Amino acid sequence: MSELTVDAKQYLIKDAPYYEAISNEVELYESAYGVRMPMMIKGPTGCGKSRFVEYMAHKLNKPLISVACNEDMTASDLVGRFLLDKDGTKWQDGPLTTAARIGAICYLDEIVEARQDTTVVIHPLTDHRRELPLDKKGELVKAHPDFQLVISYNPGYQSLMKDLKQSTKQRFGGLDFDYPETELEVSIVTKESGVDEKMAEKLVQIAHRARNLKGHGLDEGISTRLLVYAGQLIAKGVNAEAACSMTMITPLTDDPDMRDTLHAAVQTFLG
Ligand SMILES: Nc1ncnc2c1ncn2[C@@H]1O[C@H](COP(=O)(O)OP(=O)(O)OP(=O)(O)O)[C@@H](O)[C@H]1O
Ligand SMILES: [Mg+2]
Repeated sequence: MSELTVDAKQYLIKDAPYYEAISNEVELYESAYGVRMPMMIKGPTGCGKSRFVEYMAHKLNKPLISVACNEDMTASDLVGRFLLDKDGTKWQDGPLTTAARIGAICYLDEIVEARQDTTVVIHPLTDHRRELPLDKKGELVKAHPDFQLVISYNPGYQSLMKDLKQSTKQRFGGLDFDYPETELEVSIVTKESGVDEKMAEKLVQIAHRARNLKGHGLDEGISTRLLVYAGQLIAKGVNAEAACSMTMITPLTDDPDMRDTLHAAVQTFLG
């Protein structure tokens, strides 16, 4: 294994993140990393994509640099820019450049949010070239052999206007993520929130009801993340119905009918 520089060490994940494998994604990701294949992690919000990437970075003992993408983000935000200081101008690497130099796993969260002229900067890094031209600086960065690019992608949100170009998509291997199946989700909620298994089961059942409403008034079902939130409050002694309302209904929808439906589901299972 190659020696990590001091700079790289600060991006290592010290403690093993808790992650329950859903299927064979851990092995598949390891194989993909083995050939440094850029990866696309697809799935709804709060289903464990970021946790998985953290877990894998730790397992592979590689530094992880995560970037939350948004539509105001420019290529310079990823690549770097000249900054002015008292001695004149100084180049500062962006997170993508840093990751390429030190051999980190670079996780671009919600890449679809970025504009297409920003997204294309990853192209030369995600094909056989594995290099990043810093046009403004006049430098061509050759990616460190350990560097890998990972992006997340929520297939639910995209309109045709806001989607990745085929030439971007077809640079990645993909892994589909979804909410874990019942038993697994119950153990995740139990472990992450501190509620007992019986309560976790009820929360998961409520979520299943809500997930059936996706596309019938709800844009997204209740995520595993929100179940963990509800559980955390309940474990602290908050009234279960109030906790569910606060974490599993209010953030999800403003539609009064939909809220009534969700409240009914909460009452059914907490009853
Ligand atoms: N397989 C899993 N093992 C352990 N915890 C999980 C798992 N799946 C989900 N979780 C829990 O769900 C929470 C949300 O997961 P995470 O932040 O990884 O979601 P995400 O898919 O990255 O969402 P977003 O698209 O909104 O960024 C985690 O903090 C963790 O508590
Ligand atoms: Mg995430």
